[in-house]
Amino acid sequence: MRFKVYRFDPESGAKPAFQDYDVRLAPGEHKVLDALVRIKEQDDSLSFRRSCREGVCGSDAMNINGRNRLACITDVTEVPEPVVLAPLPGFPVIRDLVVDMTMFFKHYHEIRPYLVNDEPPPERERLQSPAERERLNGLYECILCACCTGFCPSYWWNPDKFVGPAGLLQAERFITDSRDRDTAGRLAFLDDVYKLYRCRTIMNCTEVCPKGLSPARAIEHIKVQLLKRST
Ligand code: SF4
Ligand code: SF4
Ligand code: FES
Repeated sequence: MRFKVYRFDPESGAKPAFQDYDVRLAPGEHKVLDALVRIKEQDDSLSFRRSCREGVCGSDAMNINGRNRLACITDVTEVPEPVVLAPLPGFPVIRDLVVDMTMFFKHYHEIRPYLVNDEPPPERERLQSPAERERLNGLYECILCACCTGFCPSYWWNPDKFVGPAGLLQAERFITDSRDRDTAGRLAFLDDVYKLYRCRTIMNCTEVCPKGLSPARAIEHIKVQLLKRST
């Protein structure tokens, strides 16, 4: 298979460029990540992240033929040759396919991704009804891969101010949780022209999420709740 891979080494002083590689996959190797591992055998200067190879850790998100995907669950038969591999758009490149996620995780930490509840803990656990638990479906499964945020034009323009689709989906996950006691504080934090309202409902995020989640729907739900509180 033919691949074109984005190469950038800040220490070399050279400009970024695409490098061609020919790869022969062994029987049983079907994924873009398998090909990347083969390329690395040819050229150990290539850098990329990966860990679980099962679509769970979210570390090998990259742009594959123009679309953000996880290399480990993208079948090579889905992507016409030459397969073009580039870093996630909208993120500063550290080297080759490795991007700087500092801003992404800063937004994530700012939405307080944990339950806030000062009530004394019950003897065993904080219970939810099946219906309350059901409302977390479509939210808790996010693996923080950043495929969505890296495909969001609003984030490309305002990465320091717009929380972005992944952070907002995570915010909604805790706003919706019946065990959390700071819905008002969470909504007040997001009620901001940049943090939330830079979302223009372009839907790229929902289009590319490899877990089938809909950040756009979560964002709309946050907006609706803010609207209800203001009326
Ligand atoms: S719906 Fe909003 S968050 Fe999703 S890609 Fe569009 S602007 Fe970005
Ligand atoms: S919402 Fe989907 S695309 Fe975005 S970070 Fe979570 S799993 Fe990845
Ligand atoms: S290597 Fe973990 S999601 Fe691909």
